[in-house]
Amino acid sequence: MSATVTLTLHPAFSVAPVRRRTFGAFVEHLGRCVYTGIHEPGHPTADADGFRGDVLELTRELGVSSVRYPGGNFVSGYRWEDGVGPVEERPARHDLAWHSTEPNTVGLDEFMTWAEKAQVEPMYAVNLGTRGIEEALDVLQYANAPQGIALSDQRAANGHPDPYGIRMWCLGNEMDGPWQAGHKTPEEYARIATETARLLRQEDPDLELVACGSSSSSMETFGAWENIVLTDAYDYVDMISAHAYYAEKDGDQASYLASADDMDHFIDSVVATADHVRAKLKKDKRIMISFDEWNIWYQHRAESRPPQGDDWPVAPVLLEDTYNAMDAVVFGNLLISLLRHSDRVASASLAQLVNVIAPIMTAPGGPAWKQTTFHPFALTSKHAVGQVLDVRLTAPSFENPRFGESSAADSVATWDEESGALSLFVVNRGAEDSLALDADLTGFGDLELVEALTLHHEDPYAANTQDAPETVVPAANDSVTLTDGHLTGDLPAISWTLVRLARRA
Ligand code: AHR
Repeated sequence: MSATVTLTLHPAFSVAPVRRRTFGAFVEHLGRCVYTGIHEPGHPTADADGFRGDVLELTRELGVSSVRYPGGNFVSGYRWEDGVGPVEERPARHDLAWHSTEPNTVGLDEFMTWAEKAQVEPMYAVNLGTRGIEEALDVLQYANAPQGIALSDQRAANGHPDPYGIRMWCLGNEMDGPWQAGHKTPEEYARIATETARLLRQEDPDLELVACGSSSSSMETFGAWENIVLTDAYDYVDMISAHAYYAEKDGDQASYLASADDMDHFIDSVVATADHVRAKLKKDKRIMISFDEWNIWYQHRAESRPPQGDDWPVAPVLLEDTYNAMDAVVFGNLLISLLRHSDRVASASLAQLVNVIAPIMTAPGGPAWKQTTFHPFALTSKHAVGQVLDVRLTAPSFENPRFGESSAADSVATWDEESGALSLFVVNRGAEDSLALDADLTGFGDLELVEALTLHHEDPYAANTQDAPETVVPAANDSVTLTDGHLTGDLPAISWTLVRLARRA
């Protein structure tokens, strides 16, 4: 007999409204994300601007709300001016972050054209590594100022008369990381971030500004960094960033399956630190979190190592991780964590969108296909509507080296009072046993079961590839039934499940 996971849901357990920006992604000039990812003139599906139609279609199907651009580590050495104006006059440059050659065929204007076609909100990162306040102001004026000054007239001359109105701006990238071009101490970063934010706001008061937080919760400066940066920048920024990547390491499957425990701890710690600064400075405003890089990333694999020596290729194969069924379950659980923290996570960006640790893969000149992680993202983005509900949960726990004890199940739900749609997201993170689901939904009145979909594969290492892109896909879970407001069913070991219900008419 399998152990039971007991869930209690109620419309009153509301955390916050679902934020569309939770479902953001990231396009960096890294590997094949831009070139042969979103942009491949000559591809059979390419449009007149050279954008792959198959990737645009999959981006819309994925349900991506916003896209961070142009980096990442790349942005800390980037000169944005290289990427505007006549393409044939743009310089090629070495990108030190990824030891690649950047041809600058795609820049801000092309990205904004793509973003419009993809129906996503842009989020732009400025270079506070090798550059500073002046260049940040310049790119803001180029992007957002109405015509009549030098830089906005330049934009118009380049074919874009109307201001882009980009709202979300990142003040640099991972400035706490010693690997970053222009890496800074917290005090150094606090100063440049505060002054940049102050002046960007003078130019355009409606911006939403994101200060760099920690590159992971394991950074030595984690906590202290956020404290110092926010103490200086509090009045000028809206969000502080968080970045986290997870992977199965040294065969420790159990800790890997519990990765969302780290994300929960990360978010709770940043919230505590931000609120400590709020109390210290006697402020009313609350700083929100932009979780603007998160994903599974096998950093130790060969494909994550940049080229070396004299080789500076354009768009090399880099960070092209292939995801398996277990990765998709951990990934779905990270989305559960992000949703659960919707009261403080105002924006998030899956890193990245295409080819580079991505849900969408492409073959140059060939097809595009969905990785396993595509499915929990697309389904969560589509069906998380209305209010996020906290789920009261009891489940057995399992031991693991990293976190000690972790719950074998994790869950969140959303409830749309208006349409009467209830979506329950639940993972069985145990590697051995299936769990019997027993959810009390009586607080919602008369519901009917719409569908139950489970992502699971008997081989947790089974993956989707170009030749077999449908190896791991969600399937109807016929064991799930609803009787008198009680939902029951089986959740196989290492599985992610979405149950959709609706108020009976
Ligand atoms: O997303 C890949 C890289 O991870 C980004 O360039 C960097 O910001 C992070 O370390």
